[in-house]
Amino acid sequence: MITIALPKGRIADETLEIFRKIFGGAFEFEDRKLILSEGQFNFLMVRNQDIPTYVTEGAADIGVVGLDVLEEHQPDVVRLLDLHIGKCHVCVGIKEGHEIDYTQPEIRIATKMPNIARNYFAQKATALKIIKLYGSIELAPLVGLSDGIVDVVETGTTMKQNGLKVGETIMTSSAHLIANKNSFIIKKAEILELYAKIKNEIKS
Ligand code: PRP
Repeated sequence: MITIALPKGRIADETLEIFRKIFGGAFEFEDRKLILSEGQFNFLMVRNQDIPTYVTEGAADIGVVGLDVLEEHQPDVVRLLDLHIGKCHVCVGIKEGHEIDYTQPEIRIATKMPNIARNYFAQKATALKIIKLYGSIELAPLVGLSDGIVDVVETGTTMKQNGLKVGETIMTSSAHLIANKNSFIIKKAEILELYAKIKNEIKS
């Protein structure tokens, strides 16, 4: 058996679609169930940011996770493959008509990605206060909680509808297939077989 952690939402749906195409089964989670067993696979429905934990701890052999999450958490895993789905950018967001004033003693950035934000602003030679949030990041500059944000931009709709403009792109992301280091030794043949099948499917 191979256990695979999937991030709730569109990336999970698209990954299961890849499995349907390869193996021809249903590969569909029932309603609110968080585990799906099909053939030689157990799928776990997990929150995006929790995927590295499931994989590094060995609760899942394999995970599908955004490069942005890998960059943020730097988990000690084997990076197998870029699935070329879930493409997005990590960008700076600022209130429309405003610029970040780098001359002020400290700039405040709201984000759910403190490490990516800190690394980026380290190049700006400014004192930085990170305001860690877990969602609705776009709200922070609107209510004076921060001077700007660092967040995921997919279509740009959320920033636009909230009066923010997309500033500099810090990184581009897409979903990657990762493996637990021990699983990659113990289940190497199975994992590499799956890797080859997925690689072949996403090419076609
Ligand atoms: C992300 C991100 C933005 C939104 C961007 O949140 O934090 O709010 O998507 O997408 P857009 O550019 O297409 O408008 P998401 O809904 O993934 O949820 P999360 O905050 O729970 O991670």
